[in-house]
Amino acid sequence: MIVTIDGPAAAGKSTAARLLADRLGFRYLDTGAMYRAAALAAMRAGIDYRDLSQVDAVAGGINLSWAGTHLLLDGEDVTDAIRSPDVTEATRYVADSPRLRERMVSLQREIGRVCDLVTEGRDQGTLVFPHAECKFFLTADARERAKRRAADYAAQGKHVAWEDVLRTIIERDQADLSRPVGALRRPPDAFQICTDGLSVEDVVRQMEALVRKRQLELS
Ligand code: DC
Repeated sequence: MIVTIDGPAAAGKSTAARLLADRLGFRYLDTGAMYRAAALAAMRAGIDYRDLSQVDAVAGGINLSWAGTHLLLDGEDVTDAIRSPDVTEATRYVADSPRLRERMVSLQREIGRVCDLVTEGRDQGTLVFPHAECKFFLTADARERAKRRAADYAAQGKHVAWEDVLRTIIERDQADLSRPVGALRRPPDAFQICTDGLSVEDVVRQMEALVRKRQLELS
């Protein structure tokens, strides 16, 4: 079974997806982490990551794998390195590359072919797994999302001003919505959950109940 969770940056997708996957006994896939690792690879290659033709040119050589929940780039664990504000900034440009998206989509589908999956991103229920058995779309107010992301940075010991986080989130929303391929859209058959004021536990409980209901319908 494939469960997709899409939505804008910092809507609470990752934590909810990870917990939901645990409870269902499914594999969890963080597709944002894949685009982040690609951005890190582009930065390390010293290319101009705003130039899509340069990103397209290196996309085929990006080698990603997983060790459990840890993401490896050319065998190196980059799980923490991909969370820096610099990588976050580069990723929204890199993720526009059609060649890179093609590569990531085929990796994601390969994983979905061999296991039950909770997969999280922007295009999972629309483009990557349009026939997923259960789809979610998580939203939250931009200011609320900025507060959460600033708290994430603080927990990592990085101080980023809330106003800067909010500005970045608004810019990333624009980029996510206007991407020529893989743009953020709510799948028409997705359950929409607004996470404002909800605890992670509330969100996961709602999602788990809906997935279990779907499993019963399909059995
Ligand atoms: O979810 P996140 O913040 O880790 O995503 C990082 C970036 O990757 C963000 O700019 C959107 C992009 N992304 C994408 O284009 N498609 C996906 N399926 C997942 C993320």
